Amino acid sequence: MRDLEDLRVEFLGRKGRLAGLMAELPGLDPADRPRAGQTANQVKAALGALIEARQQDLERAGDSERLAAFDPTLPGRRPPAGSLHPVTLVIDEICDVFIGLGFEVVSGPEVESDWYNFEALNMPPEHPARDMQDTLYVSEAVVLRTHTSPLQIRTMKERTPPLAAIAPGKVYRRDSDLTHTPMFHQIEGFLVDSHSSMADLRGTLTAFVRQLFGPDTEVRFRQSFFPFTEPSAEVDISCVMCGGRGASGGETCRVCKGTGWVEVLGCGMIDPNVFRAVGYDPEKYAGFAFGLGVERVAMLKYGIGDLRMFFENDVRFLEQFS
Ligand code: PHE
Repeated sequence: MRDLEDLRVEFLGRKGRLAGLMAELPGLDPADRPRAGQTANQVKAALGALIEARQQDLERAGDSERLAAFDPTLPGRRPPAGSLHPVTLVIDEICDVFIGLGFEVVSGPEVESDWYNFEALNMPPEHPARDMQDTLYVSEAVVLRTHTSPLQIRTMKERTPPLAAIAPGKVYRRDSDLTHTPMFHQIEGFLVDSHSSMADLRGTLTAFVRQLFGPDTEVRFRQSFFPFTEPSAEVDISCVMCGGRGASGGETCRVCKGTGWVEVLGCGMIDPNVFRAVGYDPEKYAGFAFGLGVERVAMLKYGIGDLRMFFENDVRFLEQFS
C-alpha cells in the first residue's frame, strides 16, 4: 500500500512526472499542443485507474487474510447484565408466599401524614411509643413513614372486611449504627374478618416461615407491646444458622448468640382503637397484623453479616445474587 501511494505521488502528484510534462505544454508548437494535452490527460486517467484497481485488490487481500484468521467458533463476549437487588429478591419471594396464602399486595406513600403513621394507629401526640420511631418531619403533620403499618389504615378505610393484604416498602427512622440504617424495608401483613384469632396469626406465620426458611423451622411467640395491637407478640424462629442448637462445630453460634432463636417480626391482634379510627365496629370484626424487616430476613436467608452491605452498591456484593 505504501509503495502504491509512493507511485501515485511520483506520477500523479502535484509535483509528479505528469505534472512536469503538463508544465512543458506551453513551450510546444501551438499545433501540437491539443494532441499532447489530450495524450497527457489519457495517461493520467489510465494511470489513476490502474493505481485505484491495484489498491482495491490489495484491500480485498487484506480482508480475506483477516477473515482467515477469524475463528467463528470462539465464544462471544457476554455484555454485563444487571441483577435484582437482594432486598427486591426477598420482597418478591415473601410476596409470593403470601399471595399463595390468599393475601393481596398493596402499597402506599412513603411521605405520610401524622394521622396515618401515628394517630390512627393508637399513637396520639405525646404517646411515648413515638420516641422509638423518630423520623424526618416534612412539615408539622407530615412525616417520612416510620413503618408500613399506615397501610393497615389506608386499606381498611378503602375496603370492607373480609380482607387480607401485605404491603412491602421503604420506611425511615432516625437510626444509624451497625445494625440500623435510616432507611430500610418492611413488609406489613394484616387480615380482618368477622372472626380471627391469635391461632390464625400463629398458623399463618408458621406456614410463612416454613416456606421461606424450610419445613423444620420452629416458631416462638414472646409477649410484647405495640400501641396498635393487643395482645402483641414478638416472633422468633429457630436459628437458620445452627438449626436452633445454639452452637455449631463446638462454637457458640454468632447469628443467634447461642440462644438458638432469632427475632424476625412483630405482630398481634389489631387493637379496637385502630378499628374505631377507620370506622369499623370492633364488636363486629377481629383481625391480626404483623410487620417484618426485609433486610433482617435477607441477612438470615443469605447469611449476610453486615447490614450496610445492602446499601453500599458494591457490584462484587450485588453480583452474588444474579
Ligand atoms: N410497625 C411495627 C414496627 O415497625 C411492627 C408491627 C406491625 C407490629 C404490625 C405489630 C403489628 O415496629
